[in-house]
Amino acid sequence: MASSAIIFTTLIIISDATAFRPSAAPFSRQSRLLSSDFDFSSKQGWDDFYEDKESKSYEWHASVPHSSISSIVSPMKSDDQLLVLGCGTSSLSADLYDTLKPRKLTSLDYSLACITEMNNRYEDADRENLHFIQGDAKSLNEHFHLNQFTSIVDKGLIDAIMTSDDWDSSIAKILKGASSVLAPGGSYVLVSYNLSKSTKKYLNEMGYFHFTYDLEGSNDRVSISKGIKTTK
Ligand SMILES: C[S@@+](CC[C@H](N)C(=O)[O-])C[C@H]1O[C@@H](n2cnc3c(N)ncnc32)[C@H](O)[C@@H]1O
Repeated sequence: MASSAIIFTTLIIISDATAFRPSAAPFSRQSRLLSSDFDFSSKQGWDDFYEDKESKSYEWHASVPHSSISSIVSPMKSDDQLLVLGCGTSSLSADLYDTLKPRKLTSLDYSLACITEMNNRYEDADRENLHFIQGDAKSLNEHFHLNQFTSIVDKGLIDAIMTSDDWDSSIAKILKGASSVLAPGGSYVLVSYNLSKSTKKYLNEMGYFHFTYDLEGSNDRVSISKGIKTTK
């Protein structure tokens, strides 16, 4: 366990952390905001990012169409609820809401600037059960009930968490909380930079989800994975 954590950390330092840059077209337009000293693990950093008007609509992993993500999320029954973690200012939440038609879709991000922007963007829209709330993905039990959701979608959150010093305990908190707010059989759809072999093994060994990686819609840079809640 200790050795796999060391390998994982090393891989993150030499691979994932340095690769944590958007590949999409907006990168050139927003490169000033995403300078090399951008700290992806800092709440203040994200607030500063979203307070800039150029970030009012920013799409991470834009090489993956939202239709590829919605097709991986389990179909919604009329009473099902969906949770999007680290929603940012992406249009993914609204696209999933329109396509999958859950009873309610809640999106969470810890940046108040981002949540304010999303509430302004959708306040007049005809999507009454699409909600955006500020909160820390490491404390999901403070915001939600046990077994509340059928599926969780994370596009870029775990990538950001992986750049922090306490990445391992943070990921454990997120996956443990996610598992508890998901109903039995619920799923965690993860859209991330391609994961190393050791990272894939590590996530499954944590025991909260059984992930299947590199699903249809993944490409040479971004991976779509789906974890099914275990009985742990
Ligand atoms: C790489 S961005 C992805 C944004 C969006 N999902 C997208 O695809 O464009 C990561 C997002 O996670 C949020 N975030 C980072 N750590 C968080 C935490 N502990 N709790 C909630 N949100 C967090 C950041 O504010 C940021 O919006």
